Amino acid sequence: MQQLIARDYRELSRLAADRVSAVVAEKPAAVLGLATGSTPIGLYAELVARSRAGELDLRQVTTFNLDEYLGLPRTHPASYWQFMQAHLFRHVPVRAERIHLPRGDAPDPEAECRAYEAAIAAAGGIDLQVLGIGGNGHIGFNEPGAPFDSVTRVVDLTAETRAANARFFARPDEVPRQAISMGIRTIMQARRILLLASGEGKAAAVAAALTGPVTTAVPASVLQRHPDVTVIMDAAAAGLLPAAAGSGR
Ligand code: F6R
Repeated sequence: MQQLIARDYRELSRLAADRVSAVVAEKPAAVLGLATGSTPIGLYAELVARSRAGELDLRQVTTFNLDEYLGLPRTHPASYWQFMQAHLFRHVPVRAERIHLPRGDAPDPEAECRAYEAAIAAAGGIDLQVLGIGGNGHIGFNEPGAPFDSVTRVVDLTAETRAANARFFARPDEVPRQAISMGIRTIMQARRILLLASGEGKAAAVAAALTGPVTTAVPASVLQRHPDVTVIMDAAAAGLLPAAAGSGR
């Protein structure tokens, strides 16, 4: 596992964009796993800037997002579909048919989950999966206790996660109680993983994930078992790591 500590969020975003760009340069038809939330917003802004500058060619990539709220249609302003349109897809030439997010309003969510797994497999698997981390150590919406062999499925959101995401909704009680999320196994099958963490609110989760025991109580700790993980964090998120960690830049 490679650990990089960025000076600030700007540098974190640039380093993350360097990783994504390198994967796409090596394989123009790369399959990218993408995350929503605050953390990758700077990465997406960098990718948009590089695409506009002609430095990054996203025309052949395929994307699969980690998750979507159950019950929200793609038109809902707080849906992850809208988030991805606003921060990335509206601004770059990724082909519409190669963009994948679970459908939150699928009439048969279980069938939607199975179809999502099948679509990832049909695309040849994920070359690079971008992850954020929850304050409770979740990855995707795999909350503490999620089995390591889980695949895309309907999951319950914890009160902590709903509260953390309430800022995107008009009222806290509008935050859905469930989501469709890639599973831990789905994530671990990605050939490379890029975990991003910013801010002191992530410091405890980062320390537990990177240096604690591998346990379902801290879903991100499973990443210790993946052969190709890069963690890019800012100093605040790295604040509870042992002093020697993070010098791998
Ligand atoms: C988002 C996702 C979540 C977030 C995590 C951190 O698609 O799956 O695991 O990455 O909740 O969110 P932020 O970046 O908002 O702190």
